[in-house]
Amino acid sequence: MKILLSEAEIQRGIVDLARRLDAEYRGKPLTVLGVLTGSLIFLADLIRRLDFPLRVGLVHASSYRGAATLPGTLEISETSLRDLEGRDVLLLDDIFDTGQTLVGLLERLEKKRPRSLRSAVLLWKEGRQRVERTPDFHCFRIPDEFVVGYGLDYRDDYRHLPYVAALEAADIG
Ligand code: IMP
Ligand code: MG
Repeated sequence: MKILLSEAEIQRGIVDLARRLDAEYRGKPLTVLGVLTGSLIFLADLIRRLDFPLRVGLVHASSYRGAATLPGTLEISETSLRDLEGRDVLLLDDIFDTGQTLVGLLERLEKKRPRSLRSAVLLWKEGRQRVERTPDFHCFRIPDEFVVGYGLDYRDDYRHLPYVAALEAADIG
């Protein structure tokens, strides 16, 4: 595995994002809505850098891209999507890859009548985008490689790593 972003680099990126969010959302009715499971660690670190009132929500989204299912099919659990009306909602995900997950979620969230709706991601993968919309905030752009760690998985492994690393051929088995 090749480390792309060290623990310290990630934390610097998060402090910088927190500064931008402070300028944007201080004094507003913010709900940070994390996409499970990938945004778990990013969410936990980011909200502890925001020292103004906010609410936290979670949404579970899975996109199936296997041969057996339709590409881009997005399954979203609705349970935590109540009480978003009139809130400034910031959707938080681990990575912007094709963008289909983020766009699918944003379309669903629009229907909850938030006061505003924007998105933030830790990573933006270059050259993979298949949608018009892009994240409003991001911490890092990365090359088109499969990455794990800091919440991101490969077949549900590696989420706990404190850094972001690119998988190499030898890691894939
Ligand atoms: P998108 O819908 O293609 O933008 O994909 C977003 C989702 O795919 C993310 O929330 C991740 O769960 C997953 N994903 C995309 N690229 C990677 C990667 O490099 N490593 C791990 N998961 C990824
Ligand atoms: Mg994910």
